[in-house]
Amino acid sequence: MFIIPWQEAIAANPASRLQIRRATERDLDGLVEYFRTLSRSSRYNRFMEPDSNFANFAFQRVVQSRGAHRFILIAEAQQQGRGAIIGEASYAGESETGRGEFALSVGHAWHGRGVGSALLSALQSRAIRLGCFALFGETLKTNEPMKALAQKAGFAFARSNDWRAIRFEKQLLQQPCALQRQDETARSI
Ligand SMILES: CC(C)(COP(=O)(O)OP(=O)(O)OC[C@H]1O[C@@H](n2cnc3c(N)ncnc32)[C@H](O)[C@@H]1OP(=O)(O)O)[C@@H](O)C(=O)NCCC(=O)NCCS
Repeated sequence: MFIIPWQEAIAANPASRLQIRRATERDLDGLVEYFRTLSRSSRYNRFMEPDSNFANFAFQRVVQSRGAHRFILIAEAQQQGRGAIIGEASYAGESETGRGEFALSVGHAWHGRGVGSALLSALQSRAIRLGCFALFGETLKTNEPMKALAQKAGFAFARSNDWRAIRFEKQLLQQPCALQRQDETARSI
């Protein structure tokens, strides 16, 4: 598989099979469909709850957060001449702490092919550009693939307030720098 090094608003390259870009309003339906087609266990691992309102989630992250320190990146594969969403990574920055929270998922058929790693590096690049001092996430203690992915990407583990979960965190910048004011803090990413 050929993975394009991430670049925001990367021009569609006919030779490429996968690109990572920021989701826009036009991707809302595709995102909802993507979340719906994830397996039940992947959805549970992703959201840490049995079910979520995906339309609301995507709308809040993509439309209501324009200009704020929130975004969703999507990994899109060209299939039969059309772009299909095969993975996503969501980010929400906390203006008070300069930290950002993230979570991600990859469609089952694409597991183990480097898409999760590519999404996480793209997310880190963008978070750094936004002045994110440190990045963190939480996952269920039983989620070995996510724990391995986080460890491989240099995250250190810590206790979570949620007894079911483990927290992973990584410092991205030498020191905190003021994030622009935003309306909401990271929650339910
Ligand atoms: C976690 C997840 C995103 C990983 O995505 P992926 O595209 O399969 O991951 P990659 O192929 O980029 O793998 C990167 C590293 O993760 C680890 N990893 C991935 N799948 C793994 C598995 N099944 N078992 C153990 N380690 C695994 C490995 O260290 C791997 O590196 P390697 O290939 O050099 O061994 C994917 O399993 C997923 O979507 N799970 C369901 C949703 C979820 O759990 N989200 C986490 C919420 S925070």
